[in-house]
Amino acid sequence: MSDPKHPVYGPTYAEMRDPGLLDPAFRARAAELQNHLPLHRDNLFNIHWQDAYTGVSAFLVPQAVSGLAANLVVMDGGTFPSGSMKVGPAYAMLMERELNEGIRPGSATVIAPSTGNFGIGVSWVARVKGYEARVVMPSGMSRERYALIERYGATTDLTPGSEADVNLTLQRTQDRYAGQADCTVLGQFSDLANYRFHRHVTAEGVRRAVQGLGLDGVDLFVSAPGSAGTLAAGEGLRESFPDLCLAAVEPEECSTLTDGGRGSHVIEGIGDQMVTLIHNVHATDLVVRIPDVHTIRGTAVFSSSTDDIMAMFGVDADCAARLQGRFGPSGICNVVGAMQAASYLGLDQSRTVVTVATDANDRYQSILDQLSNNLGRQPHRRDLSGWWSEVQELEPARQVLDIHESDHRERLHGMKRDTWVPYGYSADFIDSMQDQTFWDREYDRVTQLDLQWQALRHPPDSCR
Ligand SMILES: Cc1ncc(COP(=O)(O)O)c(C=O)c1O
Repeated sequence: MSDPKHPVYGPTYAEMRDPGLLDPAFRARAAELQNHLPLHRDNLFNIHWQDAYTGVSAFLVPQAVSGLAANLVVMDGGTFPSGSMKVGPAYAMLMERELNEGIRPGSATVIAPSTGNFGIGVSWVARVKGYEARVVMPSGMSRERYALIERYGATTDLTPGSEADVNLTLQRTQDRYAGQADCTVLGQFSDLANYRFHRHVTAEGVRRAVQGLGLDGVDLFVSAPGSAGTLAAGEGLRESFPDLCLAAVEPEECSTLTDGGRGSHVIEGIGDQMVTLIHNVHATDLVVRIPDVHTIRGTAVFSSSTDDIMAMFGVDADCAARLQGRFGPSGICNVVGAMQAASYLGLDQSRTVVTVATDANDRYQSILDQLSNNLGRQPHRRDLSGWWSEVQELEPARQVLDIHESDHRERLHGMKRDTWVPYGYSADFIDSMQDQTFWDREYDRVTQLDLQWQALRHPPDSCR
């Protein structure tokens, strides 16, 4: 039963997967709150992929942009509370802590190592639930990230560097916060609640999106790992589409999955120089490398006016409006990665590839300003119109590595062991991840967790 002095609140995994399980009047009221009262606690029930009005938070990228015969669908993660779907794993991890460890507001500060979006998501969830939060993040990320974290009332603990220096945030977290009685560390790279959220919730979001767009199935799911949580949606989709191919994308400058490369790059949110603990490398088929310059220019292209987008791609005004502002650099990286992987596989017009825009362009103005500074002026249409042909010049045979049925997966597993044993995970535990039953067992915990959560939580307000 809910403890009236310390009520816990929010949706089950099943309600995030299918918000249709909620009372319709309550759901409509919660959807209204997202614009008017974004910190009202009922917004926790807006953590899902079903747009309240159209039913589907996804859009088709027209052939004029993708250059593909196959359909290219992008899941629109910018529609979530806090402006990024990373709020979903943040909520799931905190929910499981409340459930399993009994933490409550006032009893623990929530600590989130992150390069931004996850930290923003944690800050939002913590604020809505009444926790203090601290984000351990590199000092060199885009300034919008720090502003959002501050707006939600969280503090930061900054480490040197940028996206490629995420290891330093893990080390700082381990040194300062792990094991402290008044802290709970939400580790997105190692916490299987992140895996559960995407395999259960995002996979169903994709299934419904594809159906809502009138398409038959999913043949290829593409995501650039930061934590690799989103990649788990591909495993969920395999339950419906067993032949689905799963592709991970990374910056060419930081080709960790392809060949252990560990260079620095500018795509915020991905390419963290490691194999994360929750990455099921044995379920991944392809690794795609994308030069980071294309992702920044692509963000600028789709931040242009609708007139410019219409002129650059020959699309109509509706289509230009649908694409405008919907991508940050990692979303463009995913789209270009999806184009490369679909070409590599030779997918025809009967096939569908799905990828994700984790957030939108609203948190990248400083990156776009930097592009203008480099040019000495605002980019014109003619500066950007070459983007499409440069992207088309990439050769899939060069950019894509097939790790299916090869010893690459063993190599990646070894890298995972090297990274995570020093953080206290036993080699035996990590080795048990080589067997799919490990992942299926972890996923199956969703049902029991939901039952426990329903028994513990304060019921959704309209159902009291
Ligand atoms: C902008 C952005 N794109 C992509 C990702 C990667 O998603 P995941 O961590 O689920 O692999 C993140 C993760 O934080 C992100 O912030």
